[in-house]
Amino acid sequence: MAQLTQIPVWREIIQHADSVRGVHLQQSFAGNPNRFDEMSIGQGALFLDYSKQCVMRETLGLLAQALEQQDFASQRAALFAGDAINKSEGRAARHIALRSSNADAEVAQALQKSLAFAEKLRARQVMGATGKPIKHIIHIGIGGSDLGPQLLVHALADAKAPNIIFIRNVDGGPIAQAMAQLDPEETLLFIASKTFTTAETMLNADTLLGWITAVMGREKALQHVVALTAAPDIAKAYGVADECIFRFWDWVGGRFSIWSSIGLSAMAAMGAQRFTEFLRGGEAMDTHFYNAPLLQNMPVLLALLSIWNINVLGYQARAVLPYAESLSEWPSYLQQLEMESLGKSVDRDGKAVDYATAPVVFGMTGTPAQHAFMQALHQGTQIIPAEIILIKNPAHALAAHHRMLNANGLAQAQALQQGKQVDDKQKSFSGNRPSSTIMMDELSPFALGQLLVLYEHKVFTESVMWNLNPFDQWGVELGKTLAAARLKKDS
Ligand code: F6P
Repeated sequence: MAQLTQIPVWREIIQHADSVRGVHLQQSFAGNPNRFDEMSIGQGALFLDYSKQCVMRETLGLLAQALEQQDFASQRAALFAGDAINKSEGRAARHIALRSSNADAEVAQALQKSLAFAEKLRARQVMGATGKPIKHIIHIGIGGSDLGPQLLVHALADAKAPNIIFIRNVDGGPIAQAMAQLDPEETLLFIASKTFTTAETMLNADTLLGWITAVMGREKALQHVVALTAAPDIAKAYGVADECIFRFWDWVGGRFSIWSSIGLSAMAAMGAQRFTEFLRGGEAMDTHFYNAPLLQNMPVLLALLSIWNINVLGYQARAVLPYAESLSEWPSYLQQLEMESLGKSVDRDGKAVDYATAPVVFGMTGTPAQHAFMQALHQGTQIIPAEIILIKNPAHALAAHHRMLNANGLAQAQALQQGKQVDDKQKSFSGNRPSSTIMMDELSPFALGQLLVLYEHKVFTESVMWNLNPFDQWGVELGKTLAAARLKKDS
């Protein structure tokens, strides 16, 4: 059985926790006027304030020692070297190479092909088989082949973006709606699937291809199909033309694939230049993660705080609250990244773990979350750490709205920290409930690239402490097999 107490410094961490538990955040702030300065860090367009976490100065130092004792430096080096660290699937996890400005020729060429096609779409220069310009894209994909593109399109689409509709569910409702609304002669299908075999995606693709075929015949309809995939041979066998296959590689995990051709919808929505800035934001966070000392390393700090809350304080959930409607897809994106990567109970060596791993990640944009589930964070019996994301400079000129939005986000953190003591017990709040706040200068492509990679490396760092493989997802397979067997039985 794998235990965290096998890490030499862990017993000291447990003892230290006793001294932290008795101290209310209000006391911590009162006892140290420099707490905010000491427990905040800027990196590029992001600023992280973790002063409202229930930690002391020594806490993170001890946790960093534990990480070192788990061979963090050599595992991080292996990740950046592109070693085959995804052992259970026998492959590397080289997604970092996709956002490197020194990418190798094959990666750079594939990116250029995608960016050029995206620009043609934005200029309405891509023609359908019957001669009409393409105005609509139906992006068909699920999991990592959907969540990243949705996040970016929602956050960063501009006026030149084509109309992009996402079909992620096998539910026929949205498909029927799309078929009723769009002109098939003006529509391209992006079949986004690493494997090109995912059952839901392929049924959705077949139905939509059938809809176009009914208008112009199969040969022409196939000219309306674009494949975003690491399985070009299967796409070819499906009938997709070579030039319409935008490939990536099996060393790109689904939930890390927004940096590859899976991002084509996002490229069309935001343009080649801004997508390149997004890649540079990701690369900047890679460089920071690789070089910064542990206690000044933003992804490492977020990971250590998460480990502290989960494994020491026993808080098994985390609420993520972006104060921006354009980040409405962030909670879903993060759910896959964290829960598919870390939702494991057996370590890399096949031993059962006796410690908690992935927390339940859930969330919603603030302020709607305040009027939905925040009550439970303020007065519920479970303590649920919160992660608040704020944007300093909005992309619009409605200043009163932005002031109210950010005032609400900051007020939530303050309320969770300080609580309120009054005679009426129903109206009292204990406070001392942890939160972190991330302030983005603006919702730019660069800042969003940084944010995504901040969390990728947070997840990787947690996987090192917990000795898990964060790059496989065997737990999803059983349900797929059982669903296929049920379908066979019914047919
Ligand atoms: O849910 C399992 C999973 O393999 C995810 O990891 C992946 O993002 C998703 O399915 C979609 O897979 P594909 O891109 O091959 O269609």
